[in-house]
Amino acid sequence: MMRAVVVVVALFALSCSLSNAGEFRVLPYLQNPAPDAITVRWLSDANTPGTVTVLSKPVQQLQSSPVEATALSYSRFAEEPGGPHPAVPYLHSVRITGLQPGTEYKYQVTQGSETRGGLLRTAPAADQPIRFLVYSDPETEPESSTSPPVDWPAGAGSNRPAGITKYLADQTIGYRENLEVMESRAPNFISLVGDLVETGGEQRDWDELWKHNAGDYGWIAGGVPILPAIGNHENYAGPGGGYTVEGALYSTAKYLTYFDVPDNGSSEPKFHGRYYRIDYGPITLIALDSSDGLPHKSLHDTNHNLEPGAAPDFNPGSEQYAWLEQQLADAQQHSRFTFVQYHHTAYGSGPHSVPFDKPNFSGQFGIPMRVLQPLLMKYGVDIVFSGHDEMLERSLVSGQELRPDGRERAHEIQYYDVGMGGDGLRGSSANADNPARKFLCHDDAPEVWEEGRLISGGKHYGHLEVNVRPDAAGDWSVTVVPVHVFPVTDATGAITSWERRVYDDVVTVTE
Ligand SMILES: [Fe+2]
Ligand SMILES: [Fe+2]
Repeated sequence: MMRAVVVVVALFALSCSLSNAGEFRVLPYLQNPAPDAITVRWLSDANTPGTVTVLSKPVQQLQSSPVEATALSYSRFAEEPGGPHPAVPYLHSVRITGLQPGTEYKYQVTQGSETRGGLLRTAPAADQPIRFLVYSDPETEPESSTSPPVDWPAGAGSNRPAGITKYLADQTIGYRENLEVMESRAPNFISLVGDLVETGGEQRDWDELWKHNAGDYGWIAGGVPILPAIGNHENYAGPGGGYTVEGALYSTAKYLTYFDVPDNGSSEPKFHGRYYRIDYGPITLIALDSSDGLPHKSLHDTNHNLEPGAAPDFNPGSEQYAWLEQQLADAQQHSRFTFVQYHHTAYGSGPHSVPFDKPNFSGQFGIPMRVLQPLLMKYGVDIVFSGHDEMLERSLVSGQELRPDGRERAHEIQYYDVGMGGDGLRGSSANADNPARKFLCHDDAPEVWEEGRLISGGKHYGHLEVNVRPDAAGDWSVTVVPVHVFPVTDATGAITSWERRVYDDVVTVTE
């Protein structure tokens, strides 16, 4: 045994000195964390098995069985720009089992002549503190580097000098700096709540997402599992395919290829992987698919453009709704805190929170998600994480939880739109309707400029940091910290560094 450990330690030392030989299309990344298991995935150009080595006791060596990732093709409906494109890669997915809870292990993956190593962490036993991060809407595409920075409305109370209307950095830099801050916080996992890519049917946009997370720009996913939710952009095929059923299934097949999540047991095989529940230490996290509501084009439909049939309904009477109620009832009994994540924010001040009958209705509103509100309240859900409006916005809804012992108690649910991952930096929209709004960074964190330089405040790229832990007396709480990545500029307005800063709206939720 000792001998094997020594050999593997030597291999780790070696891996640091190997140059990138280009064997990986996507570097190894972690998925589906459990107390005793975790999945390692990667993509390769060649159809040859790779090996995962885990420095557990005993040392585990597991060989992959590559599968041609046929969903990751280019140019299904229209020629994707930027060709010629490579052949579809091979997906490697290795489930490592027999691990100890809440434990860090060194692992490495060898694919052909290249070896990459990292650290993985299993989910802890129930009563261990955890930290996770939440963001949404990075909407990656190659154009994020070549297009000008996004529009940057100033919001209430700003003294911004006239003429500055675009953000100070492009979307690629914004997302990259955001991920860099996230990595520095060593979270247990990251929730990515939809609109991962600009166009779900364009493979080059997925390539760009993985460049950020397990590639040339960064490798956060090699040490931190991403727990995704599916957004409208993942259902959108782009030119030629649009929001047809065929286009949506082609696009979401890419999403489903990359992510490994717990099984939801749906009677529809095509809906597996689109919603799921994960228990992680003291919490339960339930990810829903808010892509489509029935009837089509009604007040209950979150996407009036998406043809029905591609995505599961979420309304009362649907299989997803019944599944949700079962999970909520169980989580209420077994977890300290329950969180729900889905893409279409139910409460917002952006373009997707304009009601059906108002001018500028987007056809993709999140208001239908309020149908879940009574159920989430009844079972004492603590926080709902969403995106889609691309704000940093917090809303609060009060009501009564029905405890498992039959007693009612006053309860509050915090709702977040944290669609500030790396795309637009929108301000609020006329006609948006949010009766529950408590904090909107555009208006509640006004920009302060001095001599042409931004000193503080304003809308920036960012994420939520969620810390779940006990105090000295053993009482557990959740602290939600709204983080933004602040560009520090010199006298000419050029960015000299980036700082992790916190908006003045830190919220604590108790048990
Ligand atoms: Fe979005
Ligand atoms: Fe969206």
